Amino acid sequence: MHEIDLANEDATLAFGAQLAQALMPGLTIYLEGDLGAGKTTLTRGVLRGLGYTGKVKSPTYTLLELYTISSLYLYHFDFYRFADPQEWVDAGFRDYFNSDSVCIVEWPEKAGEFLPTPDLRIEISAQQSGRSLHVHAETEAGKQCLMRLNSVEKS
Ligand SMILES: Nc1ncnc2c1ncn2[C@@H]1O[C@H](COP(=O)(O)OP(=O)(O)O)[C@@H](O)[C@H]1O
Ligand SMILES: [Mg+2]
Repeated sequence: MHEIDLANEDATLAFGAQLAQALMPGLTIYLEGDLGAGKTTLTRGVLRGLGYTGKVKSPTYTLLELYTISSLYLYHFDFYRFADPQEWVDAGFRDYFNSDSVCIVEWPEKAGEFLPTPDLRIEISAQQSGRSLHVHAETEAGKQCLMRLNSVEKS
């Protein structure tokens, strides 16, 4: 487990950019936290870190935004609007979770048990000012990612 304080939006974007350097195809990352916690901001930081300069929209209404960055496919999901986890199955999203892609998921709890288990689970919570972040590695691939993240942070 890895804990980090983010004083402001720029710190969230900077952390996302560091996380970007530690990503590998095949990783699934859950982003957990209330509305406005900073899940989309963090994902924007990841995409900026990967060199994506276009607009990063919240997938709240579209459920999914797709990004192709050189050899990496990044899928940014937001399941906030799911009323029933079965909607996840019906939407056919299972195929996106494969060894070529990085999947970042806001509101994974709304997809229930159907969603593949994550490699990393990032909890974001609001503090008096700023946010605190807890990063949990849940698989061997997640642990490797966290180790790369540690060395990015130190460099
Ligand atoms: N570390 C931080 N400290 C304070 N405010 C932040 C921080 N990170 C992000 N924010 C702000 O919090 C809000 C988060 O919005 P958003 O990323 O859309 O949240 P979510 O996707 O979790 O609903 C934005 O207004 C952003 O500027
Ligand atoms: Mg969001």
